[in-house]
Amino acid sequence: MNDAVTVAAPLEQLIDQVPQAQNKFVAEDWDPSRFDIQHWLGRAPWRTLKDTEYGIGKDPAPTHFAVIDDKLVNQIYKLDIATFLTAERVSYTGIAKLMQHAPDEASQIFLATQAVDEARHYEVFCQRLAQFGVSPEDRDQMMEDMTTKELRAFYDLIKEQVDRGDFAAAMMAHNIILEGMAYPIYRYESAYWSVFDPSLTQLIRGAFADEVHHVRYGEAIIQRYSKLGDDSRNTMQRLAREFHSLMTSVFESSIRHYIHLYQLVADQYMDVIGDIDIFPGKKMRDVSETDQVHILLGQIQDEHAQRMQRIGL
Ligand SMILES: [Fe+2]
Ligand SMILES: [Fe+2]
Repeated sequence: MNDAVTVAAPLEQLIDQVPQAQNKFVAEDWDPSRFDIQHWLGRAPWRTLKDTEYGIGKDPAPTHFAVIDDKLVNQIYKLDIATFLTAERVSYTGIAKLMQHAPDEASQIFLATQAVDEARHYEVFCQRLAQFGVSPEDRDQMMEDMTTKELRAFYDLIKEQVDRGDFAAAMMAHNIILEGMAYPIYRYESAYWSVFDPSLTQLIRGAFADEVHHVRYGEAIIQRYSKLGDDSRNTMQRLAREFHSLMTSVFESSIRHYIHLYQLVADQYMDVIGDIDIFPGKKMRDVSETDQVHILLGQIQDEHAQRMQRIGL
């Protein structure tokens, strides 16, 4: 009987009864359409990833022979990807875990999209290594080798925030610190490999586009917490200081351990890669590898400082 009445009601009245979608489950000052699954579909599967397979488009430009035949170039190529994988694994396992600690459904839905993005990054980099003949066992070993003691300490502090179930601190660790560090590195790496292997550059750029979005969410959500002015603000500030010093150690350790390999490659293949704009207004041939790492760290720290200011920490 009730159904009959509803069906017979004027159309305008029916529309009035439909709740506004954006008021469904989020706070008034939060625009869910920036971070929901519908947005994710439009951003990634339908746009940046359209017509790709494992992140690579049809008819990719050829890989330079050195990446396949030169032992040294081949080695740093694989070690770079293995390093990306260590970060992506921390990301997808951490973000998936964090879903249970999210304060509302809108955040859970966003985290679901981020978990897929991070798992996809992990998958495409694994796939690329497999295409170069790296077995899963060798891949795991390379990831282990690339996790210096300093990098492990950095990852452990991120995991600790997730395990404590502190949503604000964990988001800060993942989407402000780790992602904020990842994306200048991805920007750099996508330029570095652009001549040697345009396909890897495409993979990195695809991941980069996602990381930018994740940082955007991180900024928006942390801004909300920092406005509360409660204990979480102090925790996040303390954490940021701790991460800052760990991050510097990570870079210093990578210079100590690996920079000579990169310098050897740069010296040997300068005619191939010398013209790459490795930083705005700076060509590869004009900056030593050690200086490049310092510039990169400087960029990360500057962007981090600006971001902290923007989010009210
Ligand atoms: Fe990622
Ligand atoms: Fe990310």
